[in-house]
Amino acid sequence: MEFMDKHLLSKTAAAMVAKGKGLLAADESSGTCETRFKTIGAACTEDSRREYRGLLITAPGAEQFISGVILYDETIRQKTADGVPFPDYMARKGVIPGIKVDTGAKNLALCPGEKVTEGLDGLRERLAAYFKLGARFAKWRAVITIGEGEVAIPTHACLYANAHALARYAALCQEASIVPIIEPEVLLDGAHTVERAEEVTEAALRATYAAMAAHNVSVEHLILKTSMVVSGKECARQAPVDEVAERTIRVLKRTVPAAQPVIVFLSGGKSDEAATAHLNAMAAMQGLPWPLTFSYSRALQNPSLKAWRGQASNAAAAQKAFHHRAQMNGLAAQGKWRAELEKQAA
Ligand code: 13P
Repeated sequence: MEFMDKHLLSKTAAAMVAKGKGLLAADESSGTCETRFKTIGAACTEDSRREYRGLLITAPGAEQFISGVILYDETIRQKTADGVPFPDYMARKGVIPGIKVDTGAKNLALCPGEKVTEGLDGLRERLAAYFKLGARFAKWRAVITIGEGEVAIPTHACLYANAHALARYAALCQEASIVPIIEPEVLLDGAHTVERAEEVTEAALRATYAAMAAHNVSVEHLILKTSMVVSGKECARQAPVDEVAERTIRVLKRTVPAAQPVIVFLSGGKSDEAATAHLNAMAAMQGLPWPLTFSYSRALQNPSLKAWRGQASNAAAAQKAFHHRAQMNGLAAQGKWRAELEKQAA
């Protein structure tokens, strides 16, 4: 076995759980960045991506609410306008650099409509290189689609293949003293009911944790990033916030070991305020075995992207918008957010 520094893994996990803080996911692939930049009419080049990510990373005061940032391979190698490598800049502010290490979800053979995430080949060497660049945690996203065609999906094959890949990734991360975030995302696309979303989320998490145990992954040094249990986007009945919170926590209590340091949520295409309100409803519940917080991309970045519009002169406004969403979600992670706080700031 390569070296595995349990003390460092514990230290990283503890810093990521700091009260009132969460994670910024800024690890969009260049293709996803292009889609997002198109919506604001900004050119998507290596330097415009650097400029935009740089303004988020250097936003004054955001470190009060952000414990870590998930970077993309290109971004972890980029620098601030003053020439400081992003991971070094973050570390100086007490923000932990993280890295997305999967290479994307590809069609799963013989399983129409389903995906399996790739990226295990050469991962040991890539993790060693990322550690040297400053990464102390990593992310791997599996994509689970719900569908009610001729064959209902997800199939066992899809859940099993993704859980297996997540476990092999997590084990390699821990061996490299990097805390793994495992993300089995159940997509909200489709017309399925919230009941079906609950059933699928439970099955996905059961498969995921069975694989973690089979591969000797240490639960104490593992972070779950999960979707919330919501109605399909096209379903006629949209479950309200309290119901989503209740169903999500029920599934998590059934499947996630209490030894795990924290559970973080993705926003999954929910509106900015809805993502905050949902997190708040869950974090306000009493007696949960783990702290909960956010690891949002869109729900943290949408307002700053809109304010920025690809113009350097809008950088300060974009940073302010980002600071506000980070602050609101920091409150939500403690169950202390109220809708009035949004209006006060507006
Ligand atoms: P969203 O918050 O936009 O869903 O993204 C989170 C993420 O990192 C998905 O992997």
